[in-house]
Amino acid sequence: MKHYVDAAEKAARAAGDLLRKNFHQSKRVNAAEAHDIKLEIDVTAQDLITRSLLKEFPQHALYGEEGIVGDQLSEHQWIVDPLDGTVNYFYGIPHFCVSIAFRFQGEIIAGVIYDPMRDEMWCGQKGEKPRLNGHHFRVSERAELGEAVISIGLSKTGEMIDSNLPLFGEMVHRVRKCRVLGSAALDMAYVACGRFDAYIERGISLWDIAAGWLLIESAGGKVDLRPREDMKDKYSIVASNGVIDLKL
Ligand code: IPD
Repeated sequence: MKHYVDAAEKAARAAGDLLRKNFHQSKRVNAAEAHDIKLEIDVTAQDLITRSLLKEFPQHALYGEEGIVGDQLSEHQWIVDPLDGTVNYFYGIPHFCVSIAFRFQGEIIAGVIYDPMRDEMWCGQKGEKPRLNGHHFRVSERAELGEAVISIGLSKTGEMIDSNLPLFGEMVHRVRKCRVLGSAALDMAYVACGRFDAYIERGISLWDIAAGWLLIESAGGKVDLRPREDMKDKYSIVASNGVIDLKL
């Protein structure tokens, strides 16, 4: 299984280097909506990742934010967000990452998240302790809600913002701090290594959280992912250190 992690790490570093090198350049916008932006470099980064992975595994399928490749029913599937935190990236906020997961026969068995600005690489594979830049990590041990720092994603459409805001309103009074940092994959990585005690969002895509899901579970935490019945391919997620009672 290690070769899947190695391949994901190599592809994530290549995409991360591209993103870091272009961070201070002007960015070409492919589409802009009220609460979201799509950039040309998202597509370029996914192409780079696709080429790197499929060169090594030509039979595999890839399911990415910027498009799909191959037979999505294949038992070998890569799940890719080439740039998570696109709006941060566009506005010059150095908080974004590359997220790559590998799913075999329906189960995520490998995943990496790379923050190119801080050069932080989280790597995990099923059944092994995950690593951050080579060092093992675990979720936090905080059990008291009042001492917790949690992240709440507000998602990207008016409707989804409306379903996340009441939750934010409640939680912000129950915990020490609520954060909205704009990168779901980094939120997941931060829960996995104990910086956050939990992350919640209603209206997330699989590529945002697939790698983080594996990292959190292999670091001792818990992920509750439910498809949203009212929105195709969108999920509600509650990810935590597994000991805190979020009283949801
Ligand atoms: C978005 C970010 C954001 C989250 C949104 C995601 P993108 O991903 O992760 O934090 O709230 O739900 O769609 O568009 O930057 O890849």
